[in-house]
Amino acid sequence: MRSELEVLYSEEQLAECVARLAEQISRDYADRDLAIVGVLKGCFIFLADLVRHIRVDCTVDFLGVSSYGRRQNVDGIVQITSDLTLPIRDRDVLLVEDIIDTGLTMRYLMDNLATRRPKSMRVCTLLHREGSGECHVPIDYTGFKFRDHYVIGYGLDYAGLHRNIPFIGYKTE
Ligand code: IMP
Ligand code: MG
Repeated sequence: MRSELEVLYSEEQLAECVARLAEQISRDYADRDLAIVGVLKGCFIFLADLVRHIRVDCTVDFLGVSSYGRRQNVDGIVQITSDLTLPIRDRDVLLVEDIIDTGLTMRYLMDNLATRRPKSMRVCTLLHREGSGECHVPIDYTGFKFRDHYVIGYGLDYAGLHRNIPFIGYKTE
C-alpha cells in the first residue's frame, strides 16, 4: 500500500504546520479557559502533536463520532459513539478535527455542543477539502486546504486502515 502512495504532506510539512497552529492557539487563548475537544478517531495523532506545542493550560477531552458523509449517505448521518467526560459550560471550547469535507459532521457537533452553553466555541482542522460544497461551519484554524483526493495517514483512515502511516498521502492510479 505505502509504495502506491503519493505524498501530499510530508512529516516535515505536518510538523511545521502543527507548530504554526499551536502558536496561533497559544496566543489566542492566553488567559482563557481552554477546553480542547478532539473528534475521534481521526484526530488522535494530530491532537497528540498539537497539544504538545500548546503553551497555555488546557484540558483535553474527546467525542467519538461515526459520520457517513455525502460519499456514503445522502442524509449525512452523524452518530456520537462516545460522549465528553468533562463539562464544557462557560468554558472556551476548541473542537479539533482531522478533516472537514462537506462540514456536515462539524455542523452537527457544534449544534450539539452549543446546547451545553460553552462560553465560546472555535474549530481547528488539520485539513479542509475545498469545493465539496455546503460547508456551513466557520473554521478558525486550518492546517492545509486542498482539493479532490481522498487522503490517508497521520490518523486518517480508509475503511479503518492506514491511520499509522506517518505522512498524509493518497493512492495513485
Ligand atoms: P464531512 O462531514 O463531510 O465534513 O466529513 C468529515 C469526516 O469524513 C471526517 O471527520 C473524516 O472522518 C471523513 N473524511 C472525509 N474525507 C476524508 C478523507 O479524505 N480521508 C479520511 N477521512 C475522510
Ligand atoms: Mg474526523
